[in-house]
Amino acid sequence: MMSSTNILTSLFLLPSLAQVAFSAVTKRATACNNSPDLCSKTYNNVTHLGAHNSPFLRDSSTGNSASGNQFYNSTVQLSAGVRLLTGQVHNNNGSLDMCHSSCTLLNAGSLSDWLSEIKTWMDGNPNEVVTVLLVNSDDASASDLASAYTNAGITSYAYTPTSTKATGDWPTLQTLINDGKRLLNFVASLDDNSAAPYLMDEFTYIFENNYDNTSPSSFSCAANRPSTVTTSSALQQNMMPFMNHFLYETTSLFGTTIESPDLGNISTTNSESGGTGALGTSATECTNTYGQAPTYLLVDFFNVGPAIETADRLNGVTNAVGRTNIYSIQMSAAYSLSEHSTPRLVAKAA
Ligand SMILES: *[C@@H]1O[C@H](CO)[C@@H](O)[C@H](O)[C@H]1NC(C)=O
Ligand SMILES: *[C@@H]1O[C@H](CO)[C@@H](O)[C@H](O)[C@H]1NC(C)=O
Ligand SMILES: *[C@@H]1O[C@H](CO)[C@@H](O)[C@H](O)[C@H]1NC(C)=O
Ligand SMILES: *[C@@H]1O[C@H](CO)[C@@H](O)[C@H](O)[C@H]1NC(C)=O
Repeated sequence: MMSSTNILTSLFLLPSLAQVAFSAVTKRATACNNSPDLCSKTYNNVTHLGAHNSPFLRDSSTGNSASGNQFYNSTVQLSAGVRLLTGQVHNNNGSLDMCHSSCTLLNAGSLSDWLSEIKTWMDGNPNEVVTVLLVNSDDASASDLASAYTNAGITSYAYTPTSTKATGDWPTLQTLINDGKRLLNFVASLDDNSAAPYLMDEFTYIFENNYDNTSPSSFSCAANRPSTVTTSSALQQNMMPFMNHFLYETTSLFGTTIESPDLGNISTTNSESGGTGALGTSATECTNTYGQAPTYLLVDFFNVGPAIETADRLNGVTNAVGRTNIYSIQMSAAYSLSEHSTPRLVAKAA
């Protein structure tokens, strides 16, 4: 039972408790991309964790499609700390849709609806800088892509680069936030962006390592795209390093080889340490190769690992705030889903 002194003390403590709560809120408000330590860093001096094929889900909405690259949608990805979303844009009989390889295989809806989902999240999270990378599968024009941005009402967030060439001179996260220009948009590829200068041609500013890997031992840090650069020439001209880190498994169907995201190896692939094939191990190797951390890490099934541990390590972040921590739920979801779809993993989980 509480003594009267204790009750008095408790009452007395109330105002200062309120103050503590208030300063916690204030502190959260000054965090950028989930950490107060990142506000003063330039965009290219932060490692952005990316969800590969962000809208292509392996969940009930797709009947647990084996083509899905993520268990959780783009909104959940963002709330969990993912800050780069990639997806393929296809011309589906005149409509720009987010489709995996083809619109008959997996159609996740229109580009405009997907951008609206991102806008809604950004409206509710004003201190976050988000990057979108569109794979321009059917060579849509800048003006057609821009129509989808306009329909989604998201153009006012779009950052327009000050340089038409690769540059080491990017704003800090705080500047992007203060200016309200906290959505960076890259397109692979876009020859002419004069109709919408905020749509940046990816391979003008960014180089990537290899991406079409089927074995944990085949990850490499060497520049693979664009074909015109070597790792050192890309770094010399300040192109930002983009590290793909996901595996495909191949199956043979009626004599055709089909590639789908490799779930069997995913725990290793996304883990922060563990040697060959592990995200953290590759990230360390690439950081050593580049003399700087990769600006982007792109993974499948981002929640497994969890992959964000590697991004946090590269960013020196130990005090992340404002994230939805859903990793433990996701881990079990990952395993129960795969029990339905990939018997191989059941054996591993058992
Ligand atoms: C940021 O800059 C520091 C100091 O130059 C460097 O050690 C670090 O690797 C950079 N991080 C990223 C993500 O570029
Ligand atoms: C995303 O997924 C969450 C939970 O998995 C769900 O509540 C939400 O409605 C979804 N959002 C969209 C835009 O699909
Ligand atoms: C494609 O669009 C045209 C009109 O825009 C329509 O007549 C046609 O049925 C559509 N085809 C398919 C396969 O949806
Ligand atoms: C991991 O990938 C290799 C192919 O490189 C495959 O032989 C192996 O079975 C995979 N492991 C699991 C657990 O699926």
